[in-house]
Amino acid sequence: MLPAGSQDAVDSFYHLHGEDPAALPCQGLACFAARAQAPAAWHAAQRQDRGLYCHGQCHQPPGAAPVRPHIASLLPHSVLLDNVLAGGIHDFGAYLARGGGVALQQARRMSQVALLQALDDSGLRGRGGAGFPAGRKWRAAAAAGGSRKYLVVNADEGDPGSFSDRYLLEDDPYCLIEGCLIAAQAIGARHGVIYLRKEYPHAARVLQVALQQARDADWLGTDFELTLHIGDGSYLCGEETALLNALEGRRPEARLRPPQITTHGLHGQPTLLHNVETLCAVPWLIRHGAAAYAALGVGRSRGSKLLSLNASFNRPGLYEVPFGLPLHAIVTELGLGLRHGSLRGLMVGGPLAGLVPPALLDTPLDYEALHAIGCAVGHGGVIAFADDTPLLAIMAEVFRFGARESCGKCTPCHYGAAELARQFAAAADGQAIDGARCRALLDNLAQASLCGHGRGLAEFAHALQRHYPEELRACLA
Ligand SMILES: Cc1cc2nc3c(=O)[nH]c(=O)nc-3n(C[C@H](O)[C@H](O)[C@H](O)COP(=O)(O)O)c2cc1C
Ligand code: SF4
Repeated sequence: MLPAGSQDAVDSFYHLHGEDPAALPCQGLACFAARAQAPAAWHAAQRQDRGLYCHGQCHQPPGAAPVRPHIASLLPHSVLLDNVLAGGIHDFGAYLARGGGVALQQARRMSQVALLQALDDSGLRGRGGAGFPAGRKWRAAAAAGGSRKYLVVNADEGDPGSFSDRYLLEDDPYCLIEGCLIAAQAIGARHGVIYLRKEYPHAARVLQVALQQARDADWLGTDFELTLHIGDGSYLCGEETALLNALEGRRPEARLRPPQITTHGLHGQPTLLHNVETLCAVPWLIRHGAAAYAALGVGRSRGSKLLSLNASFNRPGLYEVPFGLPLHAIVTELGLGLRHGSLRGLMVGGPLAGLVPPALLDTPLDYEALHAIGCAVGHGGVIAFADDTPLLAIMAEVFRFGARESCGKCTPCHYGAAELARQFAAAADGQAIDGARCRALLDNLAQASLCGHGRGLAEFAHALQRHYPEELRACLA
């Protein structure tokens, strides 16, 4: 229980406390990139001060009334989108009739050793952003002692430009629950929580119904209970340690690590935390076998990945692709090119994932290949920036977002991100800025930030410097 008065300190952290997100326009990067399609809506969004950076409707121009995106899978047999492509499954019986639950039955016949081995053999890596091998996390959580273990689902999907988790949650909630049950069995957890962003009210309604139906069918409530927690509007709550603080009712600042959350997570207990897409892949790989899953993809990037393409493309939407697809195929074959202008840069994995220049579009969608060019797969939100957006404007926009979402726990990010946002905004406005000072602030951000938010902002700036040296010479020379 918090002492009197501290609840205000918690509530004041959030952008959407007491707000209805549906009533607020989006100020996120995907809408910024597509602002030429609806300039008035974008200007209105900039004037509101609550800080809403994504409704998960990035396939539409700013301010457009919500419609369902184009959805497709490039795989002969979809791993993740079968039920989404069928229009969504919102009844437990219908889920079972389509083969749901078979993986859970198989898992219940498997030993813990066999389950952990299957995860390792599949090569599945976390889809939330970092791409950490899921099997290693499962092993660490399974081996951890402690009286109580937790499974936590990260359904914060905060990256502007990403809406893949949204459709898994809204159209395939039982698949997520089944993935949770298998993961909980593998690590020995009896309690689970889904942390869902407030910006997805429809997903919240769908999940409440699905959880109750799963309880009525005895999937939940005896060996394992799974509950829903709705956030209050904060990008940083997607960072896993901040998310745990939010679930504990604290101010959601990032935690210092080690200890890792697999041993000291929620309420100090061993915790397995995964992104929605990661857990939704689990039933398929158990049912069809780890080898079938590992047969998709390239190198150390196995399986399939969901990509969400923003409204800058001629055919925006939600796509399932195998790893290894060259980035130019994403632009031309999935997105059918840009709606206007030519491509200045492609943001593949969210605002901290760098910007791929047109000259490097031969790079395959692959964790290691993108890392090698200073970019990242991230969560797979693909935003195309056209040549009507100067590089400095993109830099200023990313840092404006980054500074607003900094949790304030460490100085390099709390002070540095805000100062860099001011400097880059001035540079984008044509003013001269102190390049040496900006470089020093970026170095501090890269080396001394407590969490991936500050480091990611620095990496973004470094990627731009590397790929667009001419455009940035004026401010970072
Ligand atoms: C600033 C920041 C924001 C993040 N936001 C999200 C998010 O919205 N959703 C998510 O799944 N992971 C997010 N992550 C990654 C999580 O910290 C964590 O690595 C992930 O949820 C683990 O799940 P996975 O192993 O399935 O990827 C974020 C990380 C950082 C540094
Ligand atoms: S890097 Fe930024 S977001 Fe992360 S702990 Fe430091 S202040 Fe908070």
